[in-house]
Amino acid sequence: MNNPFKFGSVVSENYFTDRQEEYERLKQIISSENHVIMMAPRRFGKTSLVNKVINSIERPVIWLDLQLLTGVSDFASQLLKQLFKKYPFEKLKFLISNFRVIPTLQLDPASNNVEISFQTRVESFVQLEDVLNLIDKLGEDRSKPIVVLDEFQELLNLDKSLDKKLRSVIQFHKNVNYVLMGSVESLMRQIFENKKSPFYHFGQIFTLNKIPLSDFRDFLDTRFAKITERHDEISETILEFSKCHPYYTQQLAFHVWMKIEREQDSENIVQNTISDIILMHDNDFDRIWSNFNNTDKKILIGIAFSDSKLLTDEFKSKNNLNASSTVFSGLKRLQEKGVLLKTDSYEFDDPFFKEWIVKKRNEN
Ligand SMILES: Nc1ncnc2c1ncn2[C@@H]1O[C@H](COP(=O)(O)OP(=O)(O)OP(=O)(O)O)[C@@H](O)[C@H]1O
Ligand SMILES: [Mg+2]
Repeated sequence: MNNPFKFGSVVSENYFTDRQEEYERLKQIISSENHVIMMAPRRFGKTSLVNKVINSIERPVIWLDLQLLTGVSDFASQLLKQLFKKYPFEKLKFLISNFRVIPTLQLDPASNNVEISFQTRVESFVQLEDVLNLIDKLGEDRSKPIVVLDEFQELLNLDKSLDKKLRSVIQFHKNVNYVLMGSVESLMRQIFENKKSPFYHFGQIFTLNKIPLSDFRDFLDTRFAKITERHDEISETILEFSKCHPYYTQQLAFHVWMKIEREQDSENIVQNTISDIILMHDNDFDRIWSNFNNTDKKILIGIAFSDSKLLTDEFKSKNNLNASSTVFSGLKRLQEKGVLLKTDSYEFDDPFFKEWIVKKRNEN
């Protein structure tokens, strides 16, 4: 039987659960005159959801991950490259002839991919501005393009004043919907919720949460029911550990399924699978751990061991974490790195990493 769980890449159809309300809401905004600012921690399912909405509407989509760009010129050429995948070559070639800086185009006849380079050493916004305005122009006579900019919080790393420049151009666009996504919530909020920021109130803020317990339970339960009678208990135990994190839940479910198929079901199967996964990532966790400074290590240990998820006063005083500013900046740093998530309090993003810390400490 095919393993019904999937983790790591975009999920759709049978691997995708719930998000009905989010799906409708997102579709509505994208079909209006508005833009979307989507925030959620890593691997919460941003891409999968946006993908599902986009696939349900027939419109050209230009998708770019800012994390992979090397500068403003690269931003312009990668965006243009995406356009060549969606629009006829001749049409674009004609429109590009009006650019202030004409790029060099190289067509690979085998793949039909177009490579683009702006032959200039000067990083200039002019190229990007021309490409962005071209997208708006293309929206005039065909259906409106959707431009998705992923890991948008990277914007200022490309150029310190790129927020101002970008906003000044795209605010006039009437024929494009922008979906600006990001996984570092604190940075995204600085860009979109700080009154002084050029992107303040640029679009509809859309935060994506974990998948609700009852939906995720049904999702796991109906699938595990196909191979074991203990499907209820297994689903419950998995979710208790993963705390409904979309990615880690699917990862654990995938491995539990595989173990059941290989070794048959047994009482401690979920716990044993967790141990297997931790062992599998031992090297990675070791490396990640050794890169933390001492304060961060103390904070992580404190959180890993306290189920209330709060650092107790006793713990703080035992570990010289008395200055609340030290703890505060540590928590903020760990959150920006994606190690901790802020919910009602702080919790680990990766439940396996948390368990690894607990196990290692207990071995000592
Ligand atoms: N609606 C869903 N139902 C079930 N599982 C999901 C859902 N959305 C996401 N997942 C799980 O989370 C994983 C990551 O999803 P996705 O790549 O869409 O997240 P993301 O937020 O875009 O991640 P990244 O931060 O890496 O860009 C998927 O591979 C899948 O295992
Ligand atoms: Mg993604």
